[in-house]
Amino acid sequence: MTAEEARNKIIFALDVHGLDDIDRWADTLAGKVGMFKVGKELFTSCGPAAVKAVQRHGGQVFLDLKYHDIPNTVASAMLEAARLGVVLANLHALGGAEMMETCVAAVHKEFNDAERPRLLAVTILTSSTAHTLRQVGIEHSVQDMVVRLARLAKASGMDGVVASPLEIGLIREACGPDFLIVTPGVRPSFAALDDQKRIMTPTEAISAGADYLVVGRPIAKAANPVQAAELIAAEILDGAA
Ligand code: C5P
Repeated sequence: MTAEEARNKIIFALDVHGLDDIDRWADTLAGKVGMFKVGKELFTSCGPAAVKAVQRHGGQVFLDLKYHDIPNTVASAMLEAARLGVVLANLHALGGAEMMETCVAAVHKEFNDAERPRLLAVTILTSSTAHTLRQVGIEHSVQDMVVRLARLAKASGMDGVVASPLEIGLIREACGPDFLIVTPGVRPSFAALDDQKRIMTPTEAISAGADYLVVGRPIAKAANPVQAAELIAAEILDGAA
């Protein structure tokens, strides 16, 4: 892996509120990270302008809105995401095979392979436990559900999943080498844990098989964010060695 390929594996979580913050981070981290994650909070406050602001600085966008609705609605929303030119977008696999297949079909019909976003599924949120799954009538373990939903996502034509570092190995084994795995909950060796509990370092997550790492506070809260991103890229390179 080259140094540039290592940088491109970092997705910076734009956990900010306003367009000014986006401009500042997209400018500071241009060329230092591969992508910027726009989530529900930022999208609800700024809308598509958040995506366009990143793109104006030459940045690529992971639109993390985790759609979950009837098939037609999710497919229409995903098409709008694709039209915004985002590179990654996601939905909840718990919405089911028909929802995912309808979405995949809609995006593949309008966009060729080079231009379309890669479509990711969230399996089971890492905030869920066996107890919270039982509360909603799911009697299986979190791990069984993660693997089951990752397989269903793949069979439905999805390109990959968002997964906790501890699930990377299981999903790689179940879904093969070409299925994308995007992993938050990574903490470089120099950074504080914040509220992340089940973490891996970038080196560990990459060597376990992650394709992209979502990193927020270890960069955002660093005294020198550019240097932090560079250190993370170096840790990624170590993981690929
Ligand atoms: O600041 P930090 O590196 O913890 O940010 C990680 C980003 O990934 C945040 O936007 C967070 O919402 C998201 N995320 C996570 N853990 C998950 C899923 C998403 O930290 N299981």
